[in-house]
Amino acid sequence: MTENLKIPKQAARQYPKPPEGSWTEHYPELDTEPVSYENSISPEFFELEREAVFKRAWLNVGRVEQLKRKGSYFTKDIPGLKTSLIVVRGKDDKVRAFHNVCRHRGNKLVWTDYPAEEVSGTCRQFACKYHGWTYDLEGTLTFILQEGEFFGIDKSKYGLVQVHCDVWKGFIFVNFAAEPEQSLHDFLGPMITAIDYPFEKLTQRYYYRGDINSNWKIFHDAFQEFYHPPILHGHQNPVMRQTDYQDLGFYTSYFQAEGPHRVGSTSGGAGGKLVPEFYNPIEQVMRSGLFGPWDPSEIVTDQLPPGLNPGNKKNWGLDSFQIFPNFAIVFWETGWYLTYHYWPVTHNRLLFEANAYFTPPRNVRERLAQQLGIATIKEYALEDCGTLEATQMGLESRVVTQFPLGDQEFMCRHANKVINTWVADYQQKQAKG
Ligand code: FES
Ligand SMILES: [Fe+2]
Repeated sequence: MTENLKIPKQAARQYPKPPEGSWTEHYPELDTEPVSYENSISPEFFELEREAVFKRAWLNVGRVEQLKRKGSYFTKDIPGLKTSLIVVRGKDDKVRAFHNVCRHRGNKLVWTDYPAEEVSGTCRQFACKYHGWTYDLEGTLTFILQEGEFFGIDKSKYGLVQVHCDVWKGFIFVNFAAEPEQSLHDFLGPMITAIDYPFEKLTQRYYYRGDINSNWKIFHDAFQEFYHPPILHGHQNPVMRQTDYQDLGFYTSYFQAEGPHRVGSTSGGAGGKLVPEFYNPIEQVMRSGLFGPWDPSEIVTDQLPPGLNPGNKKNWGLDSFQIFPNFAIVFWETGWYLTYHYWPVTHNRLLFEANAYFTPPRNVRERLAQQLGIATIKEYALEDCGTLEATQMGLESRVVTQFPLGDQEFMCRHANKVINTWVADYQQKQAKG
């Protein structure tokens, strides 16, 4: 029905070109040569990456709202490291993380029906299902069945194995290093810690996950550039089929990299307000869709929260902050945010997690608008997933080994570079002993 509609000229917005040439050339450490994706297809590289990246960087495992009161806990499996964590709020309100392994004979300590499923709840202590060894919320071993037969065992030496854990703006991070090389605050750096968003007000959470046959970085890259949607997703939404579409929306108008992290800002395309008649009928009725609810949530004011829109762009609609290595936060102009996690399982398999956070809906219409938003985004993400498996197959053929990246693929290039740098740095340190 909307096939033949044309976007009115006045709706087309001008997107600023990067200053003097290109975004990429503004970062001299990034060259403009084609890149290799050997780091996404090599099992040997994956082994290195686990040590060099996932055991050295701070990793986000959840939010404090998941731990509402003392004794609240959740388990978080980290498949690439073949481990599971218990993240728990102690009696002192402090959030701690422990390896989810009983010190007696190694049973996974906290699980319910299926050992491979993550669980959450509230408790006073953790008791092992095998022989009943019990640990308090601070990880101290408090009970051994038939303790008298354990040759004078010293319980204080058999607490749960703790993992470094710290919280930034309600995001819980862990670090698997014996001693992290940087504090969480220093690791995140000024660009990320400048963000002062009212996260605590967005407590309505929608979650989905996918098990995908591609390297984690291949998926990561699909959400690090915003110019593929008209091609890959064009048939899903009439607005994307417009010849003028790319002038309207999905070009990234600002890039910034800082340390291992990066951000890209676009117009966000909260398109409903732009040309509502180009959207699918359900989107028009519900005033929601791919870009989330069209109407601003109650946190939206004239003033953007500090740290957002770092390029100070006029037509700002979305910031996609990519927090190294596998965590992204996407802020939308209508006052909600998404997080993505890319958890490697093997060199060619990942678990992808998406969470969407909104303010609690005030009525049925708002609730439905939120649900339509997240359901629509999931549709698009599924479409990305299919392509990623095809990309992985193409790369694994090794028929082609060098791939040109455009300026809009700045974040893909930066991510690729950072991974290789972290691995090289680790190898150097290992060589020095
Ligand atoms: S393995 Fe946990 S109590 Fe025996
Ligand atoms: Fe996509």
